[in-house]
Amino acid sequence: MRKKDHINIALAEKTENTSLDNYKIDYNSIPKFGIDDVDTSTKVCGYSWKYPFFINAITAGGEYCNNINKQFEKICTECEIEFFPGSYSPALKNETDKINYPKSRSVNLGLDKNIDQIKDAVKQTNAKYLQLHTNPLQEMIMPEGDRNFENWLTNLTNASKKIDIPIILKETGFGMSSETIKTAINLKLAAVDISGLHGTNFARIENGRSSSPSPYLEEIGYSTAESLEIAKSYRNDIDIIASGGIRNPLDVVKCLALGAKAVGVSRVFLDILINEGEDALRREINKWKLEIKYLMILMHAKNVNELFGKIRKI
Ligand SMILES: Cc1cc2nc3c(=O)[nH]c(=O)nc-3n(C[C@H](O)[C@H](O)[C@H](O)COP(=O)(O)O)c2cc1C
Repeated sequence: MRKKDHINIALAEKTENTSLDNYKIDYNSIPKFGIDDVDTSTKVCGYSWKYPFFINAITAGGEYCNNINKQFEKICTECEIEFFPGSYSPALKNETDKINYPKSRSVNLGLDKNIDQIKDAVKQTNAKYLQLHTNPLQEMIMPEGDRNFENWLTNLTNASKKIDIPIILKETGFGMSSETIKTAINLKLAAVDISGLHGTNFARIENGRSSSPSPYLEEIGYSTAESLEIAKSYRNDIDIIASGGIRNPLDVVKCLALGAKAVGVSRVFLDILINEGEDALRREINKWKLEIKYLMILMHAKNVNELFGKIRKI
């Protein structure tokens, strides 16, 4: 029930203005090459991806959420984009959720999970990547959330030593500080997903479920653009993934121009799947794939690396 509440409240919000609106991409009046010369591929955690955007962790567990993940998995396979399923946490407790968790892609768990639980999740799913998400503010606001956090860094440190697939430290919509990114680098993690403010906001979602909301908590954190500006100087030390409030292909190329290697989308694609159906989501993803190429032509960027820096703050 809580997860369905999260989905319903998340979808009731529309992302309007974001930090990325304060940036403009380079625009060239005279293109230098055509669509067949554009290479949208990117390399993340040592793997090559055909396209630089993906569907990012949106819940799991229970028939309703498992069904959503199944639809995402099918669509992403057909559209050749990456899919990162939501938390494996329900599958640690429930055989049906374990069987239904998407296989062979990524597995997602919170930093509250210990190394035995993390190892179990990686083994059961045969995943290529481990996404470890962090959401302390949400835990604090949720009536049923964690109150003790003393093990979180230990769990992350143990995972960095004992898990042999690439680890992505992932925020859940509050952005990342320089200190957090430096911790990930010191632990030799493969990537950080800075998942910043202005998209899905779990403080707002929990306030929506609460009889005694604290709206001021919704402002805490770093926007997606601010997080990317912070992360930029570390881009040679760790792969930077962007997410949080991504609305369209222009947001994707802006994040790539600000130094991200790939860009995650949650709420916008979930909205299309639930309200318009599988075919509509397939069409939307294919539209993004094409329009990213158009934008790259305008920016004189033949590949994702050439996008870096082709942007200005207004
Ligand atoms: C309904 C819902 C469930 C989510 N569940 C998870 C989760 O299980 N694990 C996780 O790491 N992030 C989860 N997220 C966070 C997203 O991956 C993402 O970081 C955040 O929603 C910001 O992106 P957006 O603005 O595109 O939605 C969830 C988001 C939504 C909307």
